[in-house]
This record gives sequence, structure tokens and C-alpha cells, in this order.
Amino acid sequence: MILLDIIEKKRDGLELTGEEIGSIVGAFVSGELSDAQMSAWMMAVCCRGMTEREISDLTLAMMNSGGKADLSDLPGIKVDKHSTGGVGDTTTLVVAPLVAACGGTVAKMSGRGLAHSGGTLDKLESVPGVCVEQTMEKFKSIVMDIGVCVIGQSGDLVPADKKMYALRDVTGTVKSIPLIASSIMSKKLAAGADAIVLDVKTGNGAFMTTLDDSRKLAREMVKIGSNLGRKTVALITDMNRPLGMAIGNGLEMKEAIEVLTGKVPLTDPLVKVCMQLGANMLMLSGLADSYDDAKESLTAALLSGQGFIKLRSMLEAMGGDVNYVDEPELLVQASRIVPVCAEKNGYIGSIDARKLGVAAALLGAGRFRKDDVIDPAVGILMNKRYGDWVSDKEPFAYMYVNKEDNLEEARSMLVSAVEMTAEAPAELPLIYDVIK
Ligand code: URA
Ligand code: CA
Repeated sequence: MILLDIIEKKRDGLELTGEEIGSIVGAFVSGELSDAQMSAWMMAVCCRGMTEREISDLTLAMMNSGGKADLSDLPGIKVDKHSTGGVGDTTTLVVAPLVAACGGTVAKMSGRGLAHSGGTLDKLESVPGVCVEQTMEKFKSIVMDIGVCVIGQSGDLVPADKKMYALRDVTGTVKSIPLIASSIMSKKLAAGADAIVLDVKTGNGAFMTTLDDSRKLAREMVKIGSNLGRKTVALITDMNRPLGMAIGNGLEMKEAIEVLTGKVPLTDPLVKVCMQLGANMLMLSGLADSYDDAKESLTAALLSGQGFIKLRSMLEAMGGDVNYVDEPELLVQASRIVPVCAEKNGYIGSIDARKLGVAAALLGAGRFRKDDVIDPAVGILMNKRYGDWVSDKEPFAYMYVNKEDNLEEARSMLVSAVEMTAEAPAELPLIYDVIK
């Protein structure tokens, strides 16, 4: 097969066969197809799109480019959860232990933060000692003992995605539904779960900013999962504000611990989204017949502290110092806490969640380059939410600071992220849709 012909075929908007897609991916991983050629092909995909069949074939080719985790010796239905990436999006640290406390089996591989969006691995590592790189045997034995373990993706899974993502990042080809859907789903499928709950974020702090695009992405991913034999559900949730109050790794771990120890009301947006995600995980696991049933179990696991015990046990099994879990203040020992006020009185009428994520990253909570080092103690703690009234004397947020380098830039980013209005804004939905 002549590889150049396949690039030209996609350039001209024609549908590729599974064999052609397999050749492109295989040749790229082996080095036979150059970076320039792959970039051209991916740009053609961005501009021309792909059919549902092509997206499934691309996902399959990527999934088969490396090793696959075999979880078949673990009992029951293994359920995974994946967020497309958000700000203050602490759901995994809350939901995974709660689902385990309800009898679910959560064997999950997570990622690191990228640009403005946080990553679960960085949050786990805010607890000193936690090692997110575990052998497959240890990973499975923790899941067997506790019901939940969240680790980094092992090195040999989906090498095609690693190579493709690095190119996409520098060639303007990140924002493409076929490329995002296949990137996420190839990794989820290779990680071995039987059931997958997707949290597709929508809004100014998400990859997909419009509801229409988010729905398209969610539908494509659900179709891929179902076509390849996994039970898959997608929630579309709001990212026009941070989901929780904390943005930063230790701050988010602390917030998750506060949720699991009953210090956050059940009406809190973070808790509500966690309940919806968890309920869908329990239903796909066959552990609840209805949403109400599932929510009741999850609420009981939260209020009894069983969810907290799961999180604590998991972190301990991964090498973590549980003093930090029992006294979460220790997670956020920054040298300075700096209040930030708005420029005028008013309601918080809109929030640019992406800017909050960037401001937290400027303080050292995130990475701008792959090898930037994260400071787990720093970040932003919101004091007010979307729709709250706030005076210009009252901080709407606090910055947790260890290094002064980018402090002023972070402050002005934060101030510019909130728009103050004279009237209270309309309420925003938290969950827009559930796609099965
Ligand atoms: N997350 C991924 O894993 N891949 C993408 O392409 C986008 C978000
Ligand atoms: Ca994430």
C-alpha cells in the first residue's frame, strides 16, 4: 500500500478502509511514516472529518499499537471513569473510592495535567510517598484488596497516541472530534475496563467549548465503546466555572477528603456531579437497578465514612503518608496565602475557568511544558462562586503561593477571569445531558 495515496485520499475527503487506517498508524509507530506525513494526514482528518466506521477503525489501530492490560483475573465488572479535562475537577478522587465502598471494582489509569487542566496523577502525588507507577501485579492486588486503585498508564500502552499527541500539540491538530475520541477511547480500551463512564466537559474551561461539539464528541466516544463491546455512558457536564472550590493539587486532594468526611454539603456542585458519575458507574457495574438506588448507596457510603476509608487505604497501599490524609491542612502548607479582590462590587456574572486554570499553573500548580515541576502546595482556593454577590473589599479567591515569580501575572489573570455584573446571572446547568 502506498502511504502517500492514503494521505491524499483523506485530503480529498474520501472514506478510508480499516486496512488503510491501520497502515498509516502502524507505519507512523514504526517510523516508516515521517512526522511531516503524519501531520499532513492528521490535518486532513481535522479538516475532512471521519465517518463513525473510520473513527472505530482508528481507535482499534491505536489500541493495538502496543500492549494491553488484562484485568480478566479480577472478579466482577471492572469500571473506569474518564474526564475530558477540566478546572477544579476533583471528581475521580471522590467517585472512585465511593464506588469501591459500594462494592464496585475501580481499576483506573489516569493522566497528568496539561496546560490549564488538572490531572489526577498530580493530585495523588500531593500526598508524600504516593507512587503512581505500580507494576501490573501490584495494581491488581490493590484493586483486589481495596476495590480501587488509580495509577499512571503503563509505558507500553498505546504508543501511537503518545507519538500522535506530541505532534498534534505542535501542529494545530488537537481540536478534532475523531482525533480526540480515538485518543481517549484507545487508551480506555487498552486499560482493560469492561464499563466506562465518560465525563465530557463543556464550556470555557473545557477542550470542547460549545455544547454542540461536546455532544458530538460524547456520542462518538459512546459509539466507539459500544462498537468495541464495552458498556459506555457519557455525561456532559458544565465547565463554565471551576467545579469545586480548589484549583491545585494538594488543595484538590484536601477538598476531596473534605467531601468524603462529610464537611461539604450534598448540594455542592462537586458532590452532585460525583453522585451522577458514581451512580452511572454502579449501574453499569450491575450494582444498582436505578439511579435513585445507586444514589442512595453512594450517599450512605459518603455519610458513613466508608468512601473516605477506601481513599485512605488506597493511598496507603500506594506508599502514601496517611498523616497527610488524616490532617489535610498539611497538604497545603504554602509560605503565603494572598487574598484576591474583584475590581468592583457586584455579582460574579461569569467566570473564565480556563484563566483560573492558567493562573493556578502560573503559581506552580500546573505545567506549561511537559517537564515543568509541580508544587503540590500551591494554587487557588475560591471563596465565592458563580452567581454570588461580592464586595470589592472581600476576597473572591485566595492564592496559595510559594514562589513570587509569576504572582502579579497570576493575580491579574484571576481578576480578569471574573466578570462582575449588577444583576445576578441566570443559573447554569451542572449536567446537560446523559448519552447512552
Ligand atoms: N485527552 C486525550 O487523552 N486526548 C485528546 O486528544 C484530548 C484530550
Ligand atoms: Ca483530567
